[in-house]
Amino acid sequence: MSDISMTSTDPAATATHCHEQANTSGFDAEAIDRTSAADLAAIGGDKWTRYPGCIGAFIAEMDYGLAPCIQQAIDNACDHCKLGYIPDPWKRRVAEACAKWQKDHYGWNVSPDIIRPVPDVLEAYEIFLREIVGAGNSVIVPTPAYMPFLSVPRLYNIDVIEIDMLQDGDAWAFDFDAIEQAFRNGCKAFVLCNPHNPIGKVLTLDEEQRISDLAAAYDARIFSDEIHAPFVFDGYTHIPFATISEQAAMQSMTATSASKSFNIPGTKCAQVLLTNPDDLTMWMDRAEWSEHQTATIGAIATTTAYNEGDPWFQDALQYVKRNFTLVDEEMHGRFNKVGYVKPQGTYIAWLDFKPLGITDPAAYFLDRAKVALTDGKECGTIGQGCVRMNFAMPRPLLRNCFDRMYVALHEDGLL
Ligand SMILES: Cc1ncc(COP(=O)(O)O)c(C=O)c1O
Repeated sequence: MSDISMTSTDPAATATHCHEQANTSGFDAEAIDRTSAADLAAIGGDKWTRYPGCIGAFIAEMDYGLAPCIQQAIDNACDHCKLGYIPDPWKRRVAEACAKWQKDHYGWNVSPDIIRPVPDVLEAYEIFLREIVGAGNSVIVPTPAYMPFLSVPRLYNIDVIEIDMLQDGDAWAFDFDAIEQAFRNGCKAFVLCNPHNPIGKVLTLDEEQRISDLAAAYDARIFSDEIHAPFVFDGYTHIPFATISEQAAMQSMTATSASKSFNIPGTKCAQVLLTNPDDLTMWMDRAEWSEHQTATIGAIATTTAYNEGDPWFQDALQYVKRNFTLVDEEMHGRFNKVGYVKPQGTYIAWLDFKPLGITDPAAYFLDRAKVALTDGKECGTIGQGCVRMNFAMPRPLLRNCFDRMYVALHEDGLL
């Protein structure tokens, strides 16, 4: 049973939950539907407590509890006191489970020998910046971007070159001319986020090849964040960048994690896939301290997630897809004057309120609608007037979120 169903304050929900058989995967959509904002706040996560009384739609977590197999693995680890520093056998188990997930889901036949644990994807990014890019250099970040891609390089005295994504009809496109210009000016690093948080773009093979060829022409390296890979909507396919060619494998350092797909970011165990042998040598020489900080409980949770959690994840994905349909209907219905490009994956939508004349929509909706969204400016200069919305919440709360936003805009004569 998930935390969510256990903390439901709705007696009807609790009674129904007790008598109903949850899905065999343990993903209980009906219990999730009945979960209130108060229930979520009672769990105590950042998303539902940072702005009391508000709907939490900012931080990238799903509100769907834990897969029962992961809950059991964590309980079992606690019962047997498996909470010491991470030992080599657990590092190996994570690598093997990650390799199997990559093969089963994306056809990537990757050896566990090149997969190393790291507390989180950002730690891998920091190692990429510190060891591969180097102080005094620069990195290209297509924007809008996941916020730390912009803020972290500055800690290493690395300049960020923001290159705005272009809106091409109802899809986003890379500005390849601007990317080439930045490479020509001496930049030697590029951040790929696929699927792309916060715009939900899923890269095509052609786009990946063009990025790889441009990087090759200027001898640049690529950090490929593929943490959202499991969240791809119908009609799109996730293609791991390192698989498209030997050239791409040599260029890239890939980072991933089960943390988004299974709601376990607090357990601290991501993975890097080091397809360039020099990177593996560097990693073993210079990144062991980061491996050491990876949590044993995270290794246990992650291994279980990858090996046993797929049925739960598939049900979670169906729920996310139905929420996406709701988002899409709202954006084409009541909110059709708001700028919006349909996401192709992730559980995040990028909404542009400039057409309504709102310059700071995150502050506006927090104040007027009690909805907490990510301020688009944190995702780059292009994000002025925009917000990032996490729609992986119980569907009735998502409806309520849109209702609150609509009422505020309507009362203010903006919609
Ligand atoms: C694109 C992307 N990369 C990395 C992360 C961080 O993930 P973690 O801290 O679980 O490794 C997030 C979290 O929202 C993300 O959206």
